Amino acid sequence: MNGELCIRSAKVSDAGRIMRLINELAVRQVMLPRSPASVIEHIRDFVVAELDGEFVGCAALHVIWSDMGEIRSIAVHPDAQKGGIGRAMADRLIEVAVELGLPKIYCFTYVPGFFEKLGFEVVTHRELPHKMFNDCKNCPKFTACDEIAMLRVLRAPTPEEEAEGPTLPSRPVRLT
Ligand SMILES: CC(C)(COP(=O)(O)OP(=O)(O)OC[C@H]1O[C@@H](n2cnc3c(N)ncnc32)[C@H](O)[C@@H]1OP(=O)(O)O)[C@@H](O)C(=O)NCCC(=O)NCCS
Repeated sequence: MNGELCIRSAKVSDAGRIMRLINELAVRQVMLPRSPASVIEHIRDFVVAELDGEFVGCAALHVIWSDMGEIRSIAVHPDAQKGGIGRAMADRLIEVAVELGLPKIYCFTYVPGFFEKLGFEVVTHRELPHKMFNDCKNCPKFTACDEIAMLRVLRAPTPEEEAEGPTLPSRPVRLT
């Protein structure tokens, strides 16, 4: 890829460009659409890619649970694909996930080949109960999901995490 590539945290002023790119690609059925509210509310999850100062891509890391993050809405402008921009954005988000201390990240995707190159492995949807519990239950494709679930382990669990075991979202949480 020729030109100077910059990957930076998104600003609220990027929300329109992010939405247009994602929804343009969603029309081609290659990824799921995002509403304006979901992009703006989650703007801190996003990084954007600029090539010579021009917006060419976006990607988001969403914290799902204490042991799990999700890479979402990764998109590169069709004219700039296959030049390393997707990988550069994913690498930045993986650095953020490591800084946050997340032991695992996953994605739901139609492009497993790309995520395989980033060290993700295919898993069953059942292995991601937090995703199923939080997002999938509201998805119109819940009973007929055609996205492939993929997981990358970033670090081994600590002895404390091992002792606690998995914390499932269905466990009642006492707030007082
Ligand atoms: C998927 C996408 C984000 C990848 O970004 P990109 O900048 O084109 O990919 P990169 O050039 O960084 O590719 C990194 C590696 O993945 C491979 N790769 C990229 N897209 C691939 C695909 N669709 N299938 C298989 N491998 C792919 C590349 O060949 C490259 O391999 P290499 O390191 O051996 O050279 C981009 O093509 C895109 O926006 N696609 C449409 C939207 C989409 O499908 N998003 C995913 C939603 S989960």
